[in-house]
Amino acid sequence: MYQFGNLLSQFLAAKDGAKINQILIGMGDSESEVNLNEEFGGQWCWAPLGERPTNVATIELSTNPVRSIVERINNSLDALVDARLKIVQPPFEPGSPLEAAKSCFGRPTQPKQLVQWFDELEPDVEAERLSVVLQDGASREQPRVDIIDAGSGIQPKEFRNTILSLNRGNKMRRPFSLGIWGQGGSGSCAFASHVLYVSRSVEEPDSVGFTLVRRCKIAGWRECCYVALMAKMPDGGFDVPRFNIDPAQPLDVFESTGTPAVDSKLPRLTHGTLVRHYDYKLPNAVNEFSTSQRNLYHALQYLLPDPLLPYRLTDCRAGQLDHRHMAGSKGRLMKLMLEVKKRNKSTGIELKHAHGPELIAPPGCQNPCIEARWWVLFSWRKNGDGVELRSGAEQFAEREHPIQFVYNGQSHGELTTDVFKSPSPPHRSAS
Ligand SMILES: Nc1ncnc2c1ncn2[C@@H]1O[C@H](COP(=O)(O)OP(=O)(O)OP(=O)(O)O)[C@@H](O)[C@H]1O
Ligand SMILES: [Mg+2]
Repeated sequence: MYQFGNLLSQFLAAKDGAKINQILIGMGDSESEVNLNEEFGGQWCWAPLGERPTNVATIELSTNPVRSIVERINNSLDALVDARLKIVQPPFEPGSPLEAAKSCFGRPTQPKQLVQWFDELEPDVEAERLSVVLQDGASREQPRVDIIDAGSGIQPKEFRNTILSLNRGNKMRRPFSLGIWGQGGSGSCAFASHVLYVSRSVEEPDSVGFTLVRRCKIAGWRECCYVALMAKMPDGGFDVPRFNIDPAQPLDVFESTGTPAVDSKLPRLTHGTLVRHYDYKLPNAVNEFSTSQRNLYHALQYLLPDPLLPYRLTDCRAGQLDHRHMAGSKGRLMKLMLEVKKRNKSTGIELKHAHGPELIAPPGCQNPCIEARWWVLFSWRKNGDGVELRSGAEQFAEREHPIQFVYNGQSHGELTTDVFKSPSPPHRSAS
């Protein structure tokens, strides 16, 4: 019989999907196709994600691997709020995510205080609270990507009703949550060979639950299915593997990089949730972190331009060790606006013009509920002995998609520069 704690250590030590497959084969799994809900290796079975064998269509709706990471970050933000609400116990239920962040974490509403507040948390504390961590993986284009939070966590018996569920609508009655539909997070499974979920609930911190999700062929089926690993429980039923741990003992989920400045930004799991993706397909975002395009720092900043709380992005990949404070592109722009001193050509960015917020009522609505803002930026880059002007927009968005539609801090769509080039631009709607 497998010791579940040892199995989790093996999964955590695996660098890529090939290693995970080796471990699974050692457990008696089949390399080619599996039978849903049928026992293998004397104590395991694969259950369809969301209890739905036709889950591929839902999970693979997502087309952008970075947007799916943003969904996981938002799940973590919701879990942080959940954990904190239990402690703070405000007299009224918050009516929105912003209200919740205000009563739980003191997020200010005024721009000046907000910019300051985003910067003032200790980097180590911030990293412990919510981190996205990149580690070496199958290849440069397919690293491991972790999202780890110190939020409410999930009890092992609740995995199937929560993180392994689809369209359950757990947050439908909670106006203070970022999530609604019950499927956002699962979209990231489409870009990984395997996804490891590990969680410790604040209500049961002496218990660690975990499971592994993968896409596989089902015997006799025309289509594939995303399945989650289940273990036989003492009552003969199947549920996620779990083991007990001293509630005060943090669970180490990262290996040391050997660089103290980076290691101190690698959180341990005392309570909360880790979602680790193996072989995550990030072909357009693998470069080292910078404000230029094609790296995860840039992509996350603009696809989550106004996160509810700041978080940390840490790069543990060999030769690329780095860690960054993440406040979103909007936060960076607001900071520029508040800076009195004008930047000059040698220091990089110059804010030429800023406008907004302007409130717009959408057609058919009396309430001006859409906030529009825009910024005009110049940016200079060193070129030999001189400097050259480059697109300011590309440091805060994508050069070809400078117009973002943002809801609850998250980008939900973008427009190309064609709007500006068109001889008769459409009626301005939002930016
Ligand atoms: N990091 C986490 N900590 C605690 N619970 C989580 C975490 N991630 C996901 N969950 C649970 O899993 C459920 C499913 O997450 P998912 O992102 O698929 O849907 P959602 O957040 O409810 O809605 P949306 O589709 O709008 O994101 C959540 O409702 C929540 O109960
Ligand atoms: Mg979600």
